[in-house]
Amino acid sequence: MIHARVIKVKNPEEMGKVAADLFETLIQTKPACVLGLATGSSPLPLYRELVERCKAGKIDFSRVRSANLDEYKGLSGDHPQSYRYFMQENLFNHVNIKPENTIVPNGQTEDVEAMCQAYEKQIEEWGGVDLQLLGIGHDGHIGFNEPTDHFPAMTHEVELEEITRQANKRFFNSIDEVPTAAYTMGIGTVMAARKVVLVATGADKKEILYKTLCGPVTPQVPASILQFHPDVTIICDEAAYPL
Ligand code: F6R
Repeated sequence: MIHARVIKVKNPEEMGKVAADLFETLIQTKPACVLGLATGSSPLPLYRELVERCKAGKIDFSRVRSANLDEYKGLSGDHPQSYRYFMQENLFNHVNIKPENTIVPNGQTEDVEAMCQAYEKQIEEWGGVDLQLLGIGHDGHIGFNEPTDHFPAMTHEVELEEITRQANKRFFNSIDEVPTAAYTMGIGTVMAARKVVLVATGADKKEILYKTLCGPVTPQVPASILQFHPDVTIICDEAAYPL
């Protein structure tokens, strides 16, 4: 059983506020901190809250660095479904973070290995991730680390599971347009973060959260590795609360 802090909130909006408090505290105490960021539906209330707090002068992103978890293979940063585009639209364009201080894996790289290594190196040169934000997939994936027979260490290319492509097709015109592969930080990259904050809302996340928190640690449920991380906070709404 995980020793994580599990915070139950009423709804996604409250989740956004509680998570934003953690970001605000970190940025105030360490203005040049390194954030690990996620895309998807779950972090949206948090990003809205961060934008509001930045506009209100409560959070200053001018020295913050950020590294995103993942990106679809083949999509350019200006493709509306790319994760770079998502981050620009939902956070970066609305706060005072410097463009050169934001990194997302390059979906159009021609040299996968070099890109993945450079990604890890940049995070290392920044001094490592202070706070890693995660959502969780229905199959327990974090980033795009899908269930498999091992825990991948570093940033790498992955084939996407059908369940993940189906879950993400809501953003595309059809399932055929959903990429079949992606680049993602590894489980090792995530586990190296000093602090992990996982956000999950909705009844459809309850079962996988239970397995993550209370089931065996197994690469078949990638998020279960978080049971071995010393500083994990899970913020979930009443519908997703698994305990
Ligand atoms: C996105 C990511 C994914 C999502 C997960 C949950 O960068 O890394 O692991 O966090 O697929 O997605 P939502 O929040 O849309 O349910």
